[in-house]
Amino acid sequence: MKKYNIIDVLSHIGKEIELYGWVDTVRDHRKIVFVDLRDRTGIVQVVGGEDFKTLSCEDVVYIKGLVKKRPDKLVNPKLATGTVEVETKSLKIITKAQPLPIPISSNGYDVNEESRLKYRYLDIRRPRMLRNLILKSQSTLFIRNYLSKLDFIEVETPILTKTTPEGARDFLVPSRLQKGNFYALPQSPQQYKQLLMVGGIERYFQFARCFRDEDPRKDRAYGEFTQLDLEMSFIEQNDILTLIENMFTKLVAILFPEKFISQSPWPRLSHSDTKKKYGTDKPDLRKDKNNPNELAFSWTIDFPLFTEQSDEDFFHGSGKAKFAPSHHMFTAPHPDDIPLLNTDPLKVRGLQHDLVLNGFEVGGGSIRIHQSKVQNKVFDLIGFTAEQKKQFDHMLEAFSYGVPPHGGIAPGIDRFLMVALGEPSIREVIAFPASSGGKISVMDAPTPATNEQLNELGIRVIV
Ligand code: AMO
Repeated sequence: MKKYNIIDVLSHIGKEIELYGWVDTVRDHRKIVFVDLRDRTGIVQVVGGEDFKTLSCEDVVYIKGLVKKRPDKLVNPKLATGTVEVETKSLKIITKAQPLPIPISSNGYDVNEESRLKYRYLDIRRPRMLRNLILKSQSTLFIRNYLSKLDFIEVETPILTKTTPEGARDFLVPSRLQKGNFYALPQSPQQYKQLLMVGGIERYFQFARCFRDEDPRKDRAYGEFTQLDLEMSFIEQNDILTLIENMFTKLVAILFPEKFISQSPWPRLSHSDTKKKYGTDKPDLRKDKNNPNELAFSWTIDFPLFTEQSDEDFFHGSGKAKFAPSHHMFTAPHPDDIPLLNTDPLKVRGLQHDLVLNGFEVGGGSIRIHQSKVQNKVFDLIGFTAEQKKQFDHMLEAFSYGVPPHGGIAPGIDRFLMVALGEPSIREVIAFPASSGGKISVMDAPTPATNEQLNELGIRVIV
């Protein structure tokens, strides 16, 4: 393993150091050649002789040299290591690089996105992309530590599972052992986390990969994305809101010190008020929208439990019902409004909460129904047939064996980072995102299956 990073030159002034990295730039001054050497910790100027003339950009090299302080007038204030340079004693070219198909010296916004995605492994050499991935890693690490200290248990749930009604189309995976049957990839672990509450876990979280076949938008990844999925038992809505507010406030202070939260405590706005006042349920409450460091969090609560069903609600119901859940079908009605389920369902408030940041919905959750009777009533109102209800028998049965009152939330990790970093698209914070056509360009996926594979699965392709 390499012993030193480029940034370590600063603690090696007057000493020898061994460095590994990529050639960022080469400047040939005849007798001497200047190379900017780059690794993930930074860039340093390296000075060499004749043997440096064979170097080209992006070659991977080993350099042994003496770290020297630069005279004051040659200090480069643009580089963190600008006060020093490395005088080379020995150079080894480990691998040569051919000219890159995309430029990587700029921030990349001006480069064609399809090419950036095809050559993503080059695209993430840009400091901006590297920083995004580092901050994502640091954010999930922070959250994991934070929640673990509060006695949350991290639990994995299946990826090969059954359809989960979150409102998008499912991705299906054919089963070889049970021909003609399909797994669905989870749109979220919603039912599993509720079953974990029945299982007595009480405080659960997971960085859950969610799979949804829906049209991409700048804040919506195609195919898959990551949620911080979280659920708690014996709590009230306020407990979830407070936990998330405290956690993200601390996360911002530690990992985004240049940012500030414009209002604390975060405003809690009722759905009807915010719709009336701002014309949206995810208002952008920044005081100065030109200020890239302002983060305006708010909660939207008191959603109606149902909206009027539209054609898009293809995923549930017989198509004849008038009501679709605002959040999802497991969201609890406000206890005072339960009688209205029989008389005026559109007036029933749901115990749903949306987390809003700078005009984006970055999280959603609710207190859940834990009474089979109420769950059954909601199934009826959204027009489930007996057959459709059967798909959720396991939930109703589980609830018959002693279910704690419970609720939770799922902030979108990618979407939060996109907004916090002020990135124009969610793809800027995902290492290998799908393109808008649903292609993973680096691997050229998806690809056709072979005849052998299809025969084994008992599948005939008709397109
Ligand atoms: P919901 O469907 O509202 O709730 O999703 C929660 C959060 O996940 C993020 N998100 C996405 N991020 C990127 N690309 C997408 N396609 C995408 N879709 C959703 C958003 C959103 O706020 N099971 C419930 C949560 C719960 O009730 O606890 C759920 O998934 O930030």
